[in-house]
Amino acid sequence: MTDAASPTTGGPRHVAVIMDGNGRWARARGRPRLFGHHAGAKRVREVVNACPDLGIKYLTIFAFSTENWKRTQTEVAGLMSLFRRYITKEARALRDEGVRVRFIGDRVRLDDKLIKLMDELEELTAGNDLVHLTIALNYGSRDEVARAIQRLAYEVAEGGLDPADVNEDTLTRFLDTHVLPDPDLVIRTSGEARISNFLLWQSAYAEYEFIDTLWPDFTRDVFAEVVAGYGKRDRRFGAVSG
Ligand code: FPP
Repeated sequence: MTDAASPTTGGPRHVAVIMDGNGRWARARGRPRLFGHHAGAKRVREVVNACPDLGIKYLTIFAFSTENWKRTQTEVAGLMSLFRRYITKEARALRDEGVRVRFIGDRVRLDDKLIKLMDELEELTAGNDLVHLTIALNYGSRDEVARAIQRLAYEVAEGGLDPADVNEDTLTRFLDTHVLPDPDLVIRTSGEARISNFLLWQSAYAEYEFIDTLWPDFTRDVFAEVVAGYGKRDRRFGAVSG
């Protein structure tokens, strides 16, 4: 899909967030890493709720990457349990607040109970349109592109697609994000200036903001400030200004 700034505010229509710094936030308090993840989960709600006022229709958050399996078994199991609890606890509120939830990423390594909760939440919120929240879970951009190309190759092999018709739009249709517009703004918290395999294809023309705030400290006000900075930028998409 194409990329367009919010028509009402000139702000970003789609914001993607790499929620980093939970571990350091917990360490600074002498607490285990999972304490930071729980604090981070609480922020998600506040940030989602801020979207309508900021003119943001699409919010995509990086909850667990294809590389995060390398963490200790305790941390991985704790995060999976947090996701299950989060979905169970927040489902009704998300539905009632007009949030449509989608998940992107490869589900193969996720446990059946979590997959069921993800499916149910997608279904429960399918009629909503106020904010589109996409949660990237076991997501990696290279993995997504590889899976997309595999599906595309099967379609070519089955005769459903002519190789001569393969172009950027065709590949985009096979990505997990095929129903979403491209992100206008990608925010990473915690002072690291890396993309970490997040929405690489989709963010080709996105603006980036790397901010020092750790994710559990990312309040509505910090979010509003970063979004206001976006409005001052001159996006040219490769063309000349004016
Ligand atoms: C990165 O911080 C954060 C994660 C790998 C997990 C993100 C998850 C949450 C914010 C929890 C909840 C999300 C949902 C959707 C309920 P880090 O652990 O790498 O921090 P560090 O760099 O300081 O160690």
